[in-house]
Amino acid sequence: MIQGDMLYEGKAKKIFLTDQPDEVVQYFKDDATAFNAQKKGTILEKGIVNNKISTRLFELLEQAGVATHFLKKLSDREMLARRVKILPIEVVIRNRATGSIIKRLGLEEGLVIDPPLIEFFYKDDSLGDPLITEDHIRMMNLATSDQVASLKTLSLKINEVLKPFFQERGMMLVDFKLEFGLWNGQILLADEISPDTCRFWDIQTGERMDKDRFRKDLGRIEETYQEVLRRVCA
Ligand code: TMP
Ligand code: ASP
Repeated sequence: MIQGDMLYEGKAKKIFLTDQPDEVVQYFKDDATAFNAQKKGTILEKGIVNNKISTRLFELLEQAGVATHFLKKLSDREMLARRVKILPIEVVIRNRATGSIIKRLGLEEGLVIDPPLIEFFYKDDSLGDPLITEDHIRMMNLATSDQVASLKTLSLKINEVLKPFFQERGMMLVDFKLEFGLWNGQILLADEISPDTCRFWDIQTGERMDKDRFRKDLGRIEETYQEVLRRVCA
């Protein structure tokens, strides 16, 4: 596998071509952003931590029968993945109310959401990733109705695999964001699953163990990412 030109640079990752047309290298950066990149910073070694955590979680999900873009971990910051066409839809799964849903609907922080709630956001930075409905997805041809049905089924299944995994490690999976891609007509889980894209609350102390520490200036950011890694990969 020879790494080629950069295909895309996002806020937290870079994607490189390889000598295999079907495969890309996903490189994890230390850059951190919040509030649609209005807040910018660096979380030291975040790229290394998120690559390791994502690798572990993609392996776990593959074992549970969820098809992902993950092929193998190449180095501290690099993962080999299938080259997918990312659907421009961010899928958010919520087990507890916090974050944007509280601002939008005035819910009580920590309210249990059971069965879990699925929300769709249109992946477009220039619009600030707005909340969309299935009708918007259909109207804008972002995905077919069958694909939307699959996104919902897959997201709930992923929640059912991840929730007990984190519970056993003393962490509550509060909410998380998934991205999916198309590969040979199949929907694959793509992007990453990490403290950047999930919210975890320590079950004993309620302490925030995710990117909310950066978003809300809660301190001990690097230590917390390392602690999540220790619990996930122990
Ligand atoms: P929200 O409450 O801000 O809508 O976030 C819901 C979940 O999605 C939370 O776990 C953080 C994650 N998330 C991302 O991964 N990327 C984003 O750009 C945003 C806004 C949230
Ligand atoms: N990734 C987001 C951004 O800066 C922010 C977030 O995760 O809250 O656009």
